Amino acid sequence: MSYALQTTPLPKGQQSRAGGQRSFTLEEAIQWVKAERRPPQRKGRGKVITVANFKGGVTKTTTSTLLAQGLAMRWGRKVCHIDLDPQGSATTLYGYNPHAEIEADDTIIPLIQAYVDGEPYDMRRLPVQTYWPNLDLIPASPQLFNAEFMLPARANLARPGDVRFEQVLHRGLEPLLEEYDYVVIDTAPTLSYLTINAVFAADGVIVPVVPDMLSFASMVQFWHLFSDLITGMEEFGDAEKKRFEFVDVLVTRVAPNKPATRVLQQWIANLYGNRVIPVEIPETDLARNTNMHFQTIYDIDKYEGGMETLRRIRNPIDQFVDLVDAKASRSWGQGEIA
Ligand SMILES: Nc1ncnc2c1ncn2[C@@H]1O[C@H](COP(=O)(O)OP(=O)(O)OP(=O)(O)O)[C@@H](O)[C@H]1O
Ligand SMILES: [Mg+2]
Repeated sequence: MSYALQTTPLPKGQQSRAGGQRSFTLEEAIQWVKAERRPPQRKGRGKVITVANFKGGVTKTTTSTLLAQGLAMRWGRKVCHIDLDPQGSATTLYGYNPHAEIEADDTIIPLIQAYVDGEPYDMRRLPVQTYWPNLDLIPASPQLFNAEFMLPARANLARPGDVRFEQVLHRGLEPLLEEYDYVVIDTAPTLSYLTINAVFAADGVIVPVVPDMLSFASMVQFWHLFSDLITGMEEFGDAEKKRFEFVDVLVTRVAPNKPATRVLQQWIANLYGNRVIPVEIPETDLARNTNMHFQTIYDIDKYEGGMETLRRIRNPIDQFVDLVDAKASRSWGQGEIA
Protein backbone atom coordinates (compact mmCIF):
# COMPACT_ATOMS: atom_id res chain seq x y z
CA MET A 1 0.00 0.00 0.00
CA SER A 2 2.68 2.54 0.92
CA TYR A 3 4.54 1.84 -2.33
CA ALA A 4 1.29 2.22 -4.23
CA LEU A 5 0.68 5.51 -2.44
CA GLN A 6 4.04 6.92 -3.43
CA THR A 7 3.75 5.98 -7.04
CA THR A 8 0.10 6.61 -7.77
CA PRO A 9 -1.71 9.72 -8.94
CA LEU A 10 -4.69 8.49 -6.87
CA PRO A 11 -5.84 10.33 -3.71
CA LYS A 12 -3.65 9.78 -0.67
CA GLY A 13 -6.37 10.13 1.99
CA GLN A 14 -5.95 11.64 5.46
CA GLN A 15 -3.67 10.42 8.22
CA SER A 16 -4.31 11.59 11.79
CA ARG A 17 -0.62 11.02 12.70
CA ALA A 18 2.47 9.67 10.96
CA GLY A 19 2.17 5.91 10.61
CA GLY A 20 -1.46 6.05 11.77
CA GLN A 21 -4.44 4.69 9.95
CA ARG A 22 -5.23 6.35 6.69
CA SER A 23 -8.82 7.28 5.99
CA PHE A 24 -10.41 7.98 2.65
CA THR A 25 -13.61 9.77 1.79
CA LEU A 26 -16.09 7.70 -0.16
CA GLU A 27 -15.19 9.64 -3.28
CA GLU A 28 -11.50 8.84 -2.84
CA ALA A 29 -12.24 5.22 -2.02
CA ILE A 30 -14.24 4.85 -5.19
CA GLN A 31 -11.37 6.26 -7.23
CA TRP A 32 -9.18 3.54 -5.76
CA VAL A 33 -11.76 0.85 -6.34
CA LYS A 34 -12.11 1.90 -9.93
CA ALA A 35 -8.37 2.02 -10.53
CA GLU A 36 -7.93 -1.40 -8.99
CA ARG A 37 -11.03 -2.94 -10.36
CA ARG A 38 -11.18 -5.17 -13.38
CA PRO A 39 -14.94 -5.44 -13.70
CA PRO A 40 -16.01 -9.06 -13.96
CA GLN A 41 -17.29 -9.97 -17.37
CA ARG A 42 -20.67 -11.60 -17.61
CA LYS A 43 -20.77 -15.30 -17.01
CA GLY A 44 -24.07 -16.92 -17.79
CA ARG A 45 -27.19 -14.81 -17.85
CA GLY A 46 -27.34 -11.06 -17.54
CA LYS A 47 -28.91 -9.25 -14.61
CA VAL A 48 -32.26 -7.55 -14.38
CA ILE A 49 -32.42 -4.29 -12.42
CA THR A 50 -35.85 -2.83 -11.78
CA VAL A 51 -36.33 0.76 -10.64
CA ALA A 52 -39.58 0.97 -8.69
CA ASN A 53 -41.50 3.05 -6.21
CA PHE A 54 -45.27 3.40 -6.19
CA LYS A 55 -44.87 7.11 -5.47
CA GLY A 56 -44.91 9.39 -8.52
CA GLY A 57 -42.17 11.85 -9.38
CA VAL A 58 -39.36 10.35 -7.30
CA THR A 59 -37.03 10.18 -10.34
CA LYS A 60 -37.59 6.55 -11.32
CA THR A 61 -37.37 7.37 -15.01
CA THR A 62 -34.37 9.68 -14.62
CA THR A 63 -32.60 7.08 -12.46
CA SER A 64 -33.30 4.11 -14.71
CA THR A 65 -32.19 6.01 -17.81
CA LEU A 66 -28.99 7.28 -16.19
CA LEU A 67 -28.28 3.78 -14.91
CA ALA A 68 -28.80 2.26 -18.37
CA GLN A 69 -26.63 4.93 -20.02
CA GLY A 70 -24.00 4.81 -17.28
CA LEU A 71 -23.61 1.03 -17.31
CA ALA A 72 -23.16 1.14 -21.07
CA MET A 73 -20.77 4.10 -21.07
CA ARG A 74 -18.71 3.61 -17.94
CA TRP A 75 -18.34 -0.15 -17.94
CA GLY A 76 -18.97 -1.03 -21.55
CA ARG A 77 -21.91 -3.21 -20.59
CA LYS A 78 -24.47 -4.25 -23.15
CA VAL A 79 -27.74 -2.89 -21.82
CA CYS A 80 -31.41 -3.17 -22.75
CA HIS A 81 -33.67 -0.55 -21.18
CA ILE A 82 -37.33 -1.57 -20.97
CA ASP A 83 -39.93 1.13 -20.51
CA LEU A 84 -42.85 -0.52 -18.70
CA ASP A 85 -44.67 2.72 -17.91
CA PRO A 86 -47.59 3.39 -20.30
CA GLN A 87 -46.79 7.12 -19.89
CA GLY A 88 -43.62 6.37 -21.86
CA SER A 89 -41.45 9.00 -20.16
CA ALA A 90 -38.26 6.96 -20.62
CA THR A 91 -39.18 6.41 -24.26
CA THR A 92 -39.32 10.19 -24.80
CA LEU A 93 -35.78 10.52 -23.44
CA TYR A 94 -34.63 8.39 -26.39
CA GLY A 95 -36.32 10.79 -28.80
CA TYR A 96 -39.57 8.89 -29.52
CA ASN A 97 -43.08 10.17 -29.04
CA PRO A 98 -44.84 7.24 -27.31
CA HIS A 99 -48.28 8.41 -28.54
CA ALA A 100 -47.46 9.01 -32.17
CA GLU A 101 -44.43 6.89 -33.00
CA ILE A 102 -44.75 3.71 -30.92
CA GLU A 103 -47.17 0.90 -31.82
CA ALA A 104 -48.37 -1.76 -29.40
CA ASP A 105 -46.20 -4.28 -31.28
CA ASP A 106 -43.07 -2.26 -30.49
CA THR A 107 -43.71 -2.61 -26.74
CA ILE A 108 -43.80 -5.77 -24.66
CA ILE A 109 -47.49 -6.25 -25.58
CA PRO A 110 -46.67 -9.10 -28.03
CA LEU A 111 -45.18 -11.03 -25.10
CA ILE A 112 -48.37 -10.51 -23.10
CA GLN A 113 -50.48 -11.44 -26.13
CA ALA A 114 -48.50 -14.66 -26.57
CA TYR A 115 -49.16 -15.48 -22.91
CA VAL A 116 -52.88 -14.89 -23.48
CA ASP A 117 -52.77 -17.15 -26.54
CA GLY A 118 -50.70 -19.78 -24.73
CA GLU A 119 -47.91 -19.47 -27.30
CA PRO A 120 -44.15 -18.98 -26.95
CA TYR A 121 -42.62 -15.60 -27.78
CA ASP A 122 -39.00 -14.64 -28.37
CA MET A 123 -38.34 -11.19 -26.91
CA ARG A 124 -35.12 -10.82 -28.90
CA ARG A 125 -37.28 -9.28 -31.65
CA LEU A 126 -38.17 -6.28 -29.54
CA PRO A 127 -35.10 -4.19 -28.61
CA VAL A 128 -34.28 -1.31 -30.95
CA GLN A 129 -30.92 0.41 -31.15
CA THR A 130 -30.65 3.84 -29.59
CA TYR A 131 -28.29 6.74 -30.29
CA TRP A 132 -26.34 5.61 -27.23
CA PRO A 133 -23.67 2.97 -27.90
CA ASN A 134 -24.30 -0.43 -26.30
CA LEU A 135 -27.79 0.61 -25.23
CA ASP A 136 -31.00 -0.75 -26.77
CA LEU A 137 -34.58 0.09 -25.86
CA ILE A 138 -37.94 -1.65 -25.68
CA PRO A 139 -40.21 1.39 -25.72
CA ALA A 140 -43.60 2.05 -24.14
CA SER A 141 -46.84 3.46 -25.47
CA PRO A 142 -50.23 4.12 -23.86
CA GLN A 143 -51.36 0.75 -25.26
CA LEU A 144 -49.35 -0.87 -22.48
CA PHE A 145 -52.39 -0.13 -20.29
CA ASN A 146 -54.07 -3.07 -22.00
CA ALA A 147 -51.72 -5.42 -20.17
CA GLU A 148 -53.65 -4.56 -17.01
CA PHE A 149 -56.70 -6.31 -18.48
CA MET A 150 -54.97 -9.00 -20.49
CA LEU A 151 -52.90 -10.42 -17.64
CA PRO A 152 -55.65 -10.92 -15.04
CA ALA A 153 -58.17 -12.13 -17.64
CA ARG A 154 -55.77 -14.87 -18.76
CA ALA A 155 -54.72 -15.62 -15.16
CA ASN A 156 -58.34 -16.44 -14.32
CA LEU A 157 -58.32 -19.19 -16.92
CA ALA A 158 -54.98 -20.63 -15.81
CA ARG A 159 -54.53 -24.36 -15.57
CA PRO A 160 -51.96 -26.15 -13.41
CA GLY A 161 -48.53 -25.91 -15.02
CA ASP A 162 -49.27 -22.65 -16.84
CA VAL A 163 -46.85 -19.73 -16.51
CA ARG A 164 -48.11 -17.60 -13.64
CA PHE A 165 -49.24 -14.08 -14.51
CA GLU A 166 -46.46 -12.38 -12.49
CA GLN A 167 -43.80 -14.52 -14.17
CA VAL A 168 -44.60 -13.64 -17.77
CA LEU A 169 -41.81 -11.06 -18.05
CA HIS A 170 -39.39 -13.14 -15.99
CA ARG A 171 -39.80 -16.07 -18.39
CA GLY A 172 -39.87 -13.85 -21.46
CA LEU A 173 -36.57 -12.20 -20.56
CA GLU A 174 -34.57 -15.45 -20.52
CA PRO A 175 -33.42 -15.27 -24.17
CA LEU A 176 -32.62 -11.55 -23.83
CA LEU A 177 -30.41 -12.23 -20.84
CA GLU A 178 -28.22 -14.43 -23.00
CA GLU A 179 -27.40 -11.34 -25.06
CA TYR A 180 -27.43 -8.46 -22.63
CA ASP A 181 -25.33 -7.88 -19.53
CA TYR A 182 -28.12 -5.83 -18.02
CA VAL A 183 -31.82 -5.31 -18.52
CA VAL A 184 -32.88 -2.12 -16.73
CA ILE A 185 -36.63 -1.66 -16.23
CA ASP A 186 -38.48 1.60 -15.64
CA THR A 187 -41.88 1.18 -13.99
CA ALA A 188 -45.06 3.20 -13.52
CA PRO A 189 -45.89 4.74 -10.13
CA THR A 190 -48.55 2.12 -9.43
CA LEU A 191 -48.75 -1.43 -8.18
CA SER A 192 -49.89 -2.57 -11.60
CA TYR A 193 -49.65 -6.05 -13.10
CA LEU A 194 -46.74 -4.81 -15.18
CA THR A 195 -44.93 -3.43 -12.14
CA ILE A 196 -45.46 -6.75 -10.35
CA ASN A 197 -43.92 -8.50 -13.37
CA ALA A 198 -40.98 -6.09 -13.30
CA VAL A 199 -40.35 -6.75 -9.61
CA PHE A 200 -40.68 -10.49 -10.04
CA ALA A 201 -38.22 -10.46 -12.95
CA ALA A 202 -35.63 -8.45 -10.99
CA ASP A 203 -32.31 -9.66 -9.64
CA GLY A 204 -31.92 -6.29 -7.98
CA VAL A 205 -34.38 -3.50 -7.19
CA ILE A 206 -33.51 0.19 -6.82
CA VAL A 207 -36.03 2.32 -4.95
CA PRO A 208 -35.44 6.05 -5.48
CA VAL A 209 -36.65 8.17 -2.59
CA VAL A 210 -36.88 11.94 -2.24
CA PRO A 211 -36.27 13.09 1.34
CA ASP A 212 -39.48 15.02 1.87
CA MET A 213 -42.31 14.17 4.23
CA LEU A 214 -44.77 12.95 1.62
CA SER A 215 -42.28 10.73 -0.15
CA PHE A 216 -41.11 9.32 3.15
CA ALA A 217 -44.67 8.39 4.17
CA SER A 218 -45.32 6.70 0.84
CA MET A 219 -41.99 4.91 0.96
CA VAL A 220 -43.02 3.24 4.21
CA GLN A 221 -46.25 2.24 2.50
CA PHE A 222 -44.24 1.01 -0.50
CA TRP A 223 -42.28 -1.43 1.65
CA HIS A 224 -45.48 -2.78 3.22
CA LEU A 225 -46.99 -3.41 -0.19
CA PHE A 226 -43.69 -4.72 -1.50
CA SER A 227 -43.28 -7.25 1.29
CA ASP A 228 -46.96 -8.29 1.04
CA LEU A 229 -46.38 -8.84 -2.64
CA ILE A 230 -43.30 -10.96 -2.16
CA THR A 231 -44.78 -12.94 0.74
CA GLY A 232 -47.89 -13.49 -1.35
CA MET A 233 -45.72 -14.95 -4.12
CA GLU A 234 -43.83 -17.16 -1.72
CA GLU A 235 -47.00 -18.71 -0.39
CA PHE A 236 -47.10 -20.68 -3.61
CA GLY A 237 -44.37 -22.92 -2.27
CA ASP A 238 -40.60 -23.14 -2.12
CA ALA A 239 -40.12 -23.62 -5.83
CA GLU A 240 -41.53 -20.13 -6.41
CA LYS A 241 -39.46 -18.41 -3.73
CA LYS A 242 -38.29 -15.03 -4.87
CA ARG A 243 -34.77 -13.97 -3.93
CA PHE A 244 -33.24 -10.61 -4.75
CA GLU A 245 -29.52 -10.01 -4.89
CA PHE A 246 -30.19 -6.51 -3.60
CA VAL A 247 -33.07 -4.18 -2.83
CA ASP A 248 -31.52 -0.76 -2.32
CA VAL A 249 -32.73 2.75 -1.61
CA LEU A 250 -31.31 5.69 -3.58
CA VAL A 251 -31.78 9.04 -1.86
CA THR A 252 -32.29 11.56 -4.60
CA ARG A 253 -33.26 15.20 -5.20
CA VAL A 254 -31.51 16.08 -1.97
CA ALA A 255 -31.89 19.78 -1.21
CA PRO A 256 -29.57 20.23 1.79
CA ASN A 257 -30.85 23.74 2.50
CA LYS A 258 -34.41 22.62 3.16
CA PRO A 259 -34.75 22.24 6.93
CA ALA A 260 -36.48 18.84 6.84
CA THR A 261 -34.01 17.22 4.45
CA ARG A 262 -31.32 16.16 6.93
CA VAL A 263 -33.89 14.95 9.47
CA LEU A 264 -35.58 12.81 6.85
CA GLN A 265 -32.27 11.50 5.58
CA GLN A 266 -31.50 10.42 9.14
CA TRP A 267 -34.85 8.65 9.38
CA ILE A 268 -34.22 6.89 6.09
CA ALA A 269 -30.76 5.83 7.29
CA ASN A 270 -32.16 4.55 10.59
CA LEU A 271 -34.94 2.61 8.93
CA TYR A 272 -33.10 1.09 6.00
CA GLY A 273 -29.52 0.93 7.28
CA ASN A 274 -27.15 -0.58 4.76
CA ARG A 275 -29.87 -0.81 2.15
CA VAL A 276 -29.32 2.91 1.57
CA ILE A 277 -26.85 3.43 -1.27
CA PRO A 278 -23.98 5.57 0.14
CA VAL A 279 -24.36 8.29 -2.49
CA GLU A 280 -26.91 11.05 -2.65
CA ILE A 281 -28.14 12.72 -5.82
CA PRO A 282 -28.56 16.48 -5.30
CA GLU A 283 -31.58 18.48 -6.38
CA THR A 284 -30.41 20.71 -9.22
CA ASP A 285 -32.11 22.91 -11.77
CA LEU A 286 -29.82 21.38 -14.33
CA ALA A 287 -31.21 17.87 -13.74
CA ARG A 288 -34.76 19.19 -13.85
CA ASN A 289 -34.20 21.12 -17.06
CA THR A 290 -32.38 18.41 -18.97
CA ASN A 291 -35.45 16.17 -18.62
CA MET A 292 -37.64 18.95 -19.97
CA HIS A 293 -35.46 18.96 -23.07
CA PHE A 294 -35.70 15.18 -23.37
CA GLN A 295 -32.12 14.75 -22.26
CA THR A 296 -30.27 13.40 -19.27
CA ILE A 297 -27.23 14.66 -17.41
CA TYR A 298 -25.14 12.16 -19.39
CA ASP A 299 -26.34 13.62 -22.68
CA ILE A 300 -24.74 17.00 -22.10
CA ASP A 301 -21.01 17.45 -22.16
CA LYS A 302 -20.95 21.20 -21.70
CA TYR A 303 -23.13 23.41 -19.59
CA GLU A 304 -23.35 27.18 -19.81
CA GLY A 305 -23.85 27.33 -16.05
CA GLY A 306 -20.33 25.95 -15.63
CA MET A 307 -18.48 22.66 -15.51
CA GLU A 308 -18.50 22.73 -11.72
CA THR A 309 -22.32 22.57 -11.62
CA LEU A 310 -22.29 19.75 -14.12
CA ARG A 311 -19.68 17.86 -12.11
CA ARG A 312 -21.62 18.36 -8.87
CA ILE A 313 -24.51 16.34 -10.25
CA ARG A 314 -22.55 14.01 -12.49
CA ASN A 315 -20.09 12.74 -9.89
CA PRO A 316 -22.71 11.20 -7.60
CA ILE A 317 -24.48 9.70 -10.60
CA ASP A 318 -21.20 8.10 -11.73
CA GLN A 319 -20.70 6.72 -8.24
CA PHE A 320 -24.23 5.37 -8.14
CA VAL A 321 -23.74 3.60 -11.48
CA ASP A 322 -20.41 2.16 -10.34
CA LEU A 323 -21.81 0.89 -7.05
CA VAL A 324 -24.72 -0.81 -8.81
CA ASP A 325 -22.39 -2.40 -11.36
CA ALA A 326 -20.07 -3.60 -8.62
CA LYS A 327 -22.94 -5.17 -6.72
CA ALA A 328 -24.79 -6.65 -9.65
CA SER A 329 -21.69 -8.09 -11.33
CA ARG A 330 -20.28 -9.61 -8.15
CA SER A 331 -21.55 -13.11 -8.81
CA TRP A 332 -19.96 -13.10 -12.30
CA GLY A 333 -16.63 -12.44 -10.59
CA GLN A 334 -17.06 -15.40 -8.27
CA GLY A 335 -16.76 -17.74 -11.18
CA GLU A 336 -20.20 -19.12 -10.67
CA ILE A 337 -22.79 -19.25 -13.37
CA ALA A 338 -25.42 -16.81 -12.12
N1 LIG B 1 -31.59 15.58 -9.41
C1 LIG B 1 -32.71 16.23 -9.76
N2 LIG B 1 -32.91 17.51 -9.38
C2 LIG B 1 -34.03 18.18 -9.72
N3 LIG B 1 -35.01 17.66 -10.44
C3 LIG B 1 -34.88 16.38 -10.86
C4 LIG B 1 -33.73 15.60 -10.54
N4 LIG B 1 -33.88 14.37 -11.10
C5 LIG B 1 -35.07 14.39 -11.73
N5 LIG B 1 -35.68 15.60 -11.60
C6 LIG B 1 -37.00 16.01 -12.09
O1 LIG B 1 -37.99 15.40 -11.28
C7 LIG B 1 -39.16 15.13 -12.04
C8 LIG B 1 -39.58 13.67 -11.83
O2 LIG B 1 -38.56 12.84 -12.38
P1 LIG B 1 -38.93 11.46 -13.10
O3 LIG B 1 -39.87 11.68 -14.23
O4 LIG B 1 -37.65 10.78 -13.37
O5 LIG B 1 -39.70 10.75 -11.89
P2 LIG B 1 -40.61 9.42 -11.95
O6 LIG B 1 -40.51 8.81 -10.60
O7 LIG B 1 -40.21 8.59 -13.10
O8 LIG B 1 -42.05 10.02 -12.19
P3 LIG B 1 -43.38 9.14 -12.53
O9 LIG B 1 -43.81 8.56 -11.23
O10 LIG B 1 -44.34 10.16 -13.08
O11 LIG B 1 -42.99 8.09 -13.52
C9 LIG B 1 -38.82 15.45 -13.48
O12 LIG B 1 -39.37 16.71 -13.77
C10 LIG B 1 -37.30 15.53 -13.50
O13 LIG B 1 -36.84 16.46 -14.45
MG1 LIG C 1 -41.37 7.76 -14.63
